[in-house]
Amino acid sequence: MSNISILGMQWGDEGKGKIVDILSDKAHMVVRFQGGNNAGHTLVINNKKTILHLIPSGIFNENASCVIGNGVVIDPKVLINEIETLNKNGLKITSERLKISNNAHVIMPYHISLDLLREMKKIGTTGRGIGPAYEDKVSRKGIRVGDLLNQKILEEKIEEVLPEKNLLIEFYKGEKLKKETILSEYLKFGEYLSQFVTDTHQLLINAKKSGKNILFEGAQGILLDIDHGTYPYVTSSNTVSGNIFSGAGVGYKTIDKIVGIAKAYTTRVGEGPFPSELFDSTGDKIREQGGEFGSTTGRPRRCGWLDAVALKYAVNLNDIDSIALTKLDVLNGFDEVKICTAYNINGNEVDYFQNNCYLLKDVKPIFKTFKGWGIIKKDMVKTFDDLPNSAKDYIKAIEDIVETKISIISIGADREDTLILENIWEE
Ligand code: IMP
Repeated sequence: MSNISILGMQWGDEGKGKIVDILSDKAHMVVRFQGGNNAGHTLVINNKKTILHLIPSGIFNENASCVIGNGVVIDPKVLINEIETLNKNGLKITSERLKISNNAHVIMPYHISLDLLREMKKIGTTGRGIGPAYEDKVSRKGIRVGDLLNQKILEEKIEEVLPEKNLLIEFYKGEKLKKETILSEYLKFGEYLSQFVTDTHQLLINAKKSGKNILFEGAQGILLDIDHGTYPYVTSSNTVSGNIFSGAGVGYKTIDKIVGIAKAYTTRVGEGPFPSELFDSTGDKIREQGGEFGSTTGRPRRCGWLDAVALKYAVNLNDIDSIALTKLDVLNGFDEVKICTAYNINGNEVDYFQNNCYLLKDVKPIFKTFKGWGIIKKDMVKTFDDLPNSAKDYIKAIEDIVETKISIISIGADREDTLILENIWEE
């Protein structure tokens, strides 16, 4: 038995979905512990593209059950849509396959309205109501999934919070919401979801005791963490490993290994500092070759060279044991590729990350340049040694700078386009 976690090491969109899908082969449970449908995990299985926003990517392994933990914020409408779409595609989403924590908070229509209305002051959120839902959780005004199953409690809670929400909505010149409409819609959602709702903490404890393999699936990325990211240009949850325990309801000894996921370059959606960002045709080429458009919002992603300073920060902040390097093939065909190895701050070279976004916005990246590798011929590359020499040099340099080994390399979107250099699950 072993329990592992995967975490995004950058500003999200690292290709976590594919890695979770691969690792979930040996998982009995795949668990999400934070975020909501601001995440979008793209999977390509048998040439078919699927984007999941809430259901853990392990759903494609029929031997695994998928858990949405208490730390997640759930838009029930989106979740039901996702379940229905998977059902239509031939996956049977039974109550054995999907478990939802009764303590997870619900994204209500006023959360979405407020998120969109407040975006006048630009953070560049996904507009899915994530921040406002977490605000209510912390201020103890939230509605939890379990509340959707009890008409009296749900009605009382909506009655309590809606007048205040409508005042705010009015302040932002939005359209006020009606209690009756929300109540009837959300009771129906509760009825639909009731078969999946349970005490997921107890479920995980039982799974641990019976020696099951559990995979904890992080959403977003470390640099978007509410405390340790580039605040205020962050998401509203803790994305760091520390939150696995409170977001899923397990103790810290549960995790045996943490695999950090990093793209071979860097991207960011929304606002905020990004030292290695490229504003030229090289950045455009990365965006084009990498298909770097948001899977949740469709927004073009900002692109730049790999920031190894930020990666090292992620390693130290989370005790990352090894790295899964994704989308290496996107750097195919460049004459040269670069890694940001340090920052220049007022003439001084600094090799550690600045999580104060006001400092980070003024740092100048210091790059190390590597020879490009032409095209990685996916069909011919089955082991690390089969990679072009300059690609191997690039990978070894990342390992040296970040002081962490790379255990998985992804060279294409399909499951098969993956080099597994180390057995992640302990036998
Ligand atoms: P929110 O999570 O919708 O509140 O958005 C806050 C910031 O996090 C914005 O810059 C979003 O673009 C970013 N963000 C949220 N979720 C993701 C994700 O899954 N991938 C990449 N960026 C994300």
